[in-house]
Amino acid sequence: AALVKHTFHIGNLTVTRLCHTRAVIAVNKQTPGPAIEVNEGDTLIIEAINDTPYNMTLHWHGIFQRLSGWADGANMITQCPILPGNKYTYKFDVMGQEGTLWWHAHLSFLRETVHGALIIRPREGAEAYPFPRPYKEIPIILGEWWNDDVMTIDRQAFLTGGPTRNADAFTINGHPGNLYNCSSGDTYRLMVEAGKTYLVRIINAAVNNQLFFKIANHSFTVVAVDACYTNPYKTDLIVIAPGQTVDALMVADAPPAEYYMAALAYESANPPAPIFVNSTTRAIVEYISAMSTALPVMPDLPFFFDTPAAHHFFSNLTGLVRPGDPTVPLYVNKRLFVTIGLGFADCLPSQTLCNASQGQLSLAASMNNASFIFPSRLSLLEAYFRSVQGIYTTDFPDKPPIVFDFTNVSLNSDKALTPLTKTVKGTRLISLKYNTTVEIVLQNTAITGIESHPIHIHGHDFYILAQGFGNYDEAEAIKGFNLKNPLKRNTVAVPTGGWAVIRFTTTNPGIWFVHCHIDTHLRLGQATALVVENGPTAHDILPPPPPDFPKCEMKRETQRV
Ligand code: C2O
Repeated sequence: AALVKHTFHIGNLTVTRLCHTRAVIAVNKQTPGPAIEVNEGDTLIIEAINDTPYNMTLHWHGIFQRLSGWADGANMITQCPILPGNKYTYKFDVMGQEGTLWWHAHLSFLRETVHGALIIRPREGAEAYPFPRPYKEIPIILGEWWNDDVMTIDRQAFLTGGPTRNADAFTINGHPGNLYNCSSGDTYRLMVEAGKTYLVRIINAAVNNQLFFKIANHSFTVVAVDACYTNPYKTDLIVIAPGQTVDALMVADAPPAEYYMAALAYESANPPAPIFVNSTTRAIVEYISAMSTALPVMPDLPFFFDTPAAHHFFSNLTGLVRPGDPTVPLYVNKRLFVTIGLGFADCLPSQTLCNASQGQLSLAASMNNASFIFPSRLSLLEAYFRSVQGIYTTDFPDKPPIVFDFTNVSLNSDKALTPLTKTVKGTRLISLKYNTTVEIVLQNTAITGIESHPIHIHGHDFYILAQGFGNYDEAEAIKGFNLKNPLKRNTVAVPTGGWAVIRFTTTNPGIWFVHCHIDTHLRLGQATALVVENGPTAHDILPPPPPDFPKCEMKRETQRV
């Protein structure tokens, strides 16, 4: 096991896309930022230097952070932010996971440009993959670009209580591609050699959109998702929600020529109102030996609301179980039924453009109608560790306030306020003993806006036992539970009107954020957190924070999220 050190200077970078030039926040003057490469068992040390005018945190998405929650980097959840001009060194072991993860800023919309790959190879290196060793490994980071400053866009939406406007383009490795205005010159180009096998490590770093991804005339064999190995799964379509990763083998076996790889937004319903996500980013796969001068071939992408295609992809993947691997816990200690959806809340006094006196409500998002508020004085983890009262409560509800039912039209109306749409604001957490097996049914209500919710849990992977549509019916669903080789992930996409059942055991003392990885929904409150108590032995106890841990003395206005 090695010590792998990086210095991340977080500062301004001037970038031009779609003929718009603006200053973005970037690590080491790169966006996407530098890739981190480690072997399982290594220790990572990243010195984060905040040279931006904003508060900052960096999160290592999907890393277990066992007993190192102080390095998890979720703003106001596991740490107070690194103030402008300050620094903090994130230090943690990378244990018990292999594959592709990523890192990103965990504050407001800053992850638009502050993100990069985090690649974990087996201890013995690429020799030890449970699939044929690829000739080369290629990170493909899918992202979004706004022509205007994202912090301003996010702030404005907060003040009015309205929705956030969608991005102006999708990107592949930072570039929108030549279907967009003024974007031909710097379209990303991947050079391949005929006959070779490539491992593409695909990351959806987009702030607000799920994506379909294809390469014309090529198919994939998926071998891992979210740094969990899968049984080899052949497909020519990849579906990926924000936060998720997919590792897939691709053989360059097409006639030597040029081909487009392309990504398009996927929404799990045809939106009633036009939302402007129907745009496609593309990049070029070029065979090194290609003599042809023909135009690249474009893949045939699904419609952007092709839910059956997405469901097919998500529900046909299974986990790779090797001898000695952990198996699904069969005895459940705690069950939760959690509705996830959008709704409304009273305007906060700080939402100065939300006109409460004229009866206006703010858009909100919730879990079991609880809409999360970030604490402002102290991070949850410090409050927990130092037993500071009054920062959070542990009364997150086990079930929604009323029984959710799709067939009940009065509930399903986005006009009238119901106990499922008028949310209750709070910082309400779920308290769990160490070694508790939790099963959570996530039910997407599709009330007030039909949207998918990719739910992410920090500090733990979970098994996905079943997924479906309509009202969750336990007796029926249980028959279809995969307890043999279910997929393991850290982020599950729950489509409009759909549900998913996840199960995991609490093995990591600390505070672990649970939230929708669509940042607009997170800002609106679609979150809670797990409080996992210390375990029985000296090896299950959260140690104190490191000496350079950021103090909570932030400027109040920038502290909102
Ligand atoms: Cu990538 Cu809290 O998430």
